[in-house]
Amino acid sequence: MNLNNVIAARSTKTIYRDGDLVIKLFNEGYSAADVLNEAHNLVIVEEIGFRVPKLVNVEKYDGKWAIVTEFVEGKTLAQLIEEDEARIDYYFDRMIDIQLEMHRYTAEKLRRHTDKMDAKISVSGLDATTRYELHTRLASLPKHLKLCHGDFGPDNIVINDGGYCVLDWSHATQGNASADAARTFLLFRIAADNGRAEKYLDAFCKKSDTALQYVQKWIPIVAASQLVKGRPEEREFLLRWINVVEY
Ligand SMILES: Nc1ncnc2c1ncn2[C@@H]1O[C@H](COP(=O)(O)OP(=O)(O)OP(=O)(O)O)[C@@H](O)[C@H]1O
Ligand SMILES: [Mg+2]
Repeated sequence: MNLNNVIAARSTKTIYRDGDLVIKLFNEGYSAADVLNEAHNLVIVEEIGFRVPKLVNVEKYDGKWAIVTEFVEGKTLAQLIEEDEARIDYYFDRMIDIQLEMHRYTAEKLRRHTDKMDAKISVSGLDATTRYELHTRLASLPKHLKLCHGDFGPDNIVINDGGYCVLDWSHATQGNASADAARTFLLFRIAADNGRAEKYLDAFCKKSDTALQYVQKWIPIVAASQLVKGRPEEREFLLRWINVVEY
């Protein structure tokens, strides 16, 4: 295992390139269950037939868990947008086409999105009344079996001559496409208040012929699930989106 070429460094893991391979090396103490779950999700999505990097190995290296996948040539949509912001509408169009293509697959072997959201709401630390409202809202929304990424954004999409490849399946579930879109909206909105979140959601709704209000119903739920990550800098912002539930 050659760990000289760092592609991305995060607080809990580092991603390396080693020739034709990518090694995602998790810090010591990182939950083995979470690592194996990510690898498990990846192979489920590979078997479904969607475009993901092929899993090569899951191993322990120097006391740390590693997920080894094939390296995918190309650039992430995040890189492409950064290089040529003037073409953002085109890149968003591309991103949404890929997201809608993903939602055409069903993913019965993945965890149910509603189960995941119910569990997150329960441990969100929100007061009982808000939790009740969120659980009730979640129960009232349609349950689907669609392949949902759960972290679908420009960083996780590689574009190349052959088309595209979607990375990073740790949050994948079977669920409702609009919930997945609400999550993408929130990711953009957490990253910056620069109009991209709104631009994305508007384009998603038009392309998928989905009512904006329908996606918006999911936003308090996905915001509550994000609260569980416990990032102090996001707390106030997320509470504002969760409290939309009151009307
Ligand atoms: N198989 C791959 N081929 C090419 N590049 C990759 C591959 N896997 C990861 N990368 C690069 O490394 C970056 C980070 O990888 P990845 O998205 O898997 O981790 P992450 O974003 O840290 O995960 P999480 O969102 O779960 O915290 C990607 O944005 C991409 O640039
Ligand atoms: Mg990523």
